[in-house]
Amino acid sequence: RKVKGVIVLQRENWASRLGFMLAAMGSAVGLGNIWRFSYVAGENGGGAFLIIYLLSVLIIGVPLLLTEVSIGRKAQSDVVGSYQKLAPKKPWYMVGFLGIGGAFLILGFYSVVAGWAFYYLWNYLTGQLFVEPEGGYGAAFGQFTSTTYEPLFWHGLFMVITMVIVLIGIKKGIELANKIFMPILAILLLVLAGYSVTLDGAMEGLAFLFKPDWSVLSDPFVYIAALGQAFFSLSLGVGTMMTYGSYLSKEHKLPGATVGIGLMDTLFAVISGIVIFPAVFAFGIEPASGPPLVFITLPSIFEQMPFGSIVAILFFLALCLAAVSSSISLLEVPVAYFMRVCSWSRRVATIVTGSVMFVLGVFVSLGFGIWSGVTPIGDRNILDSMDYIASNIFLPIGGLVMAIFIGWYFTKEEAFEATDLTTSPLRNVWLVLVRYIAPILIAIIFLNALDII
Ligand code: PHE
Ligand code: NA
Repeated sequence: RKVKGVIVLQRENWASRLGFMLAAMGSAVGLGNIWRFSYVAGENGGGAFLIIYLLSVLIIGVPLLLTEVSIGRKAQSDVVGSYQKLAPKKPWYMVGFLGIGGAFLILGFYSVVAGWAFYYLWNYLTGQLFVEPEGGYGAAFGQFTSTTYEPLFWHGLFMVITMVIVLIGIKKGIELANKIFMPILAILLLVLAGYSVTLDGAMEGLAFLFKPDWSVLSDPFVYIAALGQAFFSLSLGVGTMMTYGSYLSKEHKLPGATVGIGLMDTLFAVISGIVIFPAVFAFGIEPASGPPLVFITLPSIFEQMPFGSIVAILFFLALCLAAVSSSISLLEVPVAYFMRVCSWSRRVATIVTGSVMFVLGVFVSLGFGIWSGVTPIGDRNILDSMDYIASNIFLPIGGLVMAIFIGWYFTKEEAFEATDLTTSPLRNVWLVLVRYIAPILIAIIFLNALDII
């Protein structure tokens, strides 16, 4: 429609609250629950990490999820525009740029890992991974990721699929895809978990995941890792949930929806831990082997189980779809921003931002091959460094600012009204969490982490 000679594009909306729920769950449930959760838990001591992680989700994650969605819904704008609209001429919007930067960083490596999942799916479809390759699955993985062009092909393919869906628009593609594939993913993970616990060494794996080794709690890194994992897994702090919330109209109630999203996401993470750790111990893999962990353990389970190749195909298919439904939400953050600010069409915004993300991913991918000696932060390779900056720094800062914004910049009444908590008996619990507890905890964890970077 035309207003005063300027073309104002109608912003899109979800068809229903369920559509929003599915899209938000699709965003939350992804590689973070399976790939990232398992190796971060593996590197940080298992059980004790799990407890800190669950506490982070409960005390910080879910209250902030409600906060982020509410800000977006109230403002009906992207991550920068929302702050500008609700706090005109104030510097709050600056944190929106951190969110956009975070989205670029995350999708830059997310698409590389998703590309690996695509490659695995393809190799299962063509029968190549049915039998353990010579030297084992670990060596085969290292061999594949260290080549230059092949991983880039899969990474590029993944980015193209992500871009095409974002191009089409959110409503049709995502709502339907999530409706079909989320239940499949859930069922598959449950079947796998059931199988995995019957393996020799399963008890050792379950003990690793559920029996806390309290000594790791004296390591400050465990806290930042758990907090970063909670933010990453809940898609929190980059503006994804804000952008998705901005496509939601006022009549839908938010608290129940956000608790549901948090619960679902956590369930998926714990179940995939139950799948992976027994196998890690059964096959004698080091739990702290980092990002490749699931790409090495899962094929070993599939090889040994009856009809394993079919399960593997379904599993990697589900993993790819879960990755796509998350990557779309990441790409949507800058796309929404550039559409508004530069008046770009959805098509131009998608192609430009998607291409930049592809290039970032090229660096990440080469970091496993010819640039494996490049370690920007500590001894972390390019992927780990980008992930570290995004998940452990950008996302918590984004979340911290959201909490302070709604807790202190809004009046109490405005905050309750924005979150649909006005008549809820839990409103004061939420308020205390976002006003005091979450900011203080994030700040403490953060300051502690500063000297261990
Ligand atoms: N939550 C997604 C996952 O667990 C990743 C993600 C992070 C998506 C941040 C959007 C924003 O896979
Ligand atoms: Na997740």
